[in-house]
Amino acid sequence: MSAGLMPKFTGSGRQLAEATMATRWIIEPLTSRDEIDAVLAIEEASFTSPWTREMYLAEFDNHGVSYFYLARGLNRDIVGFCSFWRILDELHINNLAVAPAHRRSHAATELLNRVLEDGAKLGAKRATLEVRRSNEPAQQLYERFGFAVAGVRRDYYSNPVEDALVLWREDLS
Ligand SMILES: CC(C)(COP(=O)(O)OP(=O)(O)OC[C@H]1O[C@@H](n2cnc3c(N)ncnc32)[C@H](O)[C@@H]1OP(=O)(O)O)[C@@H](O)C(=O)NCCC(=O)NCCS
Repeated sequence: MSAGLMPKFTGSGRQLAEATMATRWIIEPLTSRDEIDAVLAIEEASFTSPWTREMYLAEFDNHGVSYFYLARGLNRDIVGFCSFWRILDELHINNLAVAPAHRRSHAATELLNRVLEDGAKLGAKRATLEVRRSNEPAQQLYERFGFAVAGVRRDYYSNPVEDALVLWREDLS
């Protein structure tokens, strides 16, 4: 899809979803531990210090706090994921990644649309996440969703050591 059909964020997640038009990805919750292998493969291809199976299993079992969505192709293959916590009226996005072969096809956009919309339904009024200072693709994506830099955590990341930018998006509903 051309950038012309994907305007910069000016309203709700629903409006952005509508602007996306033809949907190529199916977004649905993770429902089975068996799917964590596919998540781990994408995690390991995406991050220098990937979360482990145990960390993901702990998320899967943290009902009522931790939520986990998958992006699937029409053949049901898992191409991306996003996990978040809902803490009172805040949504904390913990992880978002798309398999390298499927990037730049709006899988992350559709994941974020769904996560922000469902997070708002759960009572979240604002959303936050951390991103490496050098991670311009992710920063561009988050900017489109109305996230703005609110602070810096010095040397937050390792391998390599790098600052985290702390982003917030207000007015989720
Ligand atoms: C960041 C990431 C999740 C984006 O996933 P994606 O499915 O490729 O993103 P989308 O196709 O939905 O991109 C939406 C918009 O984000 C921006 N964007 C995404 N990737 C970009 C890139 N490589 N360069 C510049 N802008 C980019 C663009 O504005 C893009 O819109 P456009 O393609 O219409 O121009 C993916 O690159 C990834 O998994 N990276 C490694 C893991 C990671 O960094 N996760 C985030 C941790 S905070």
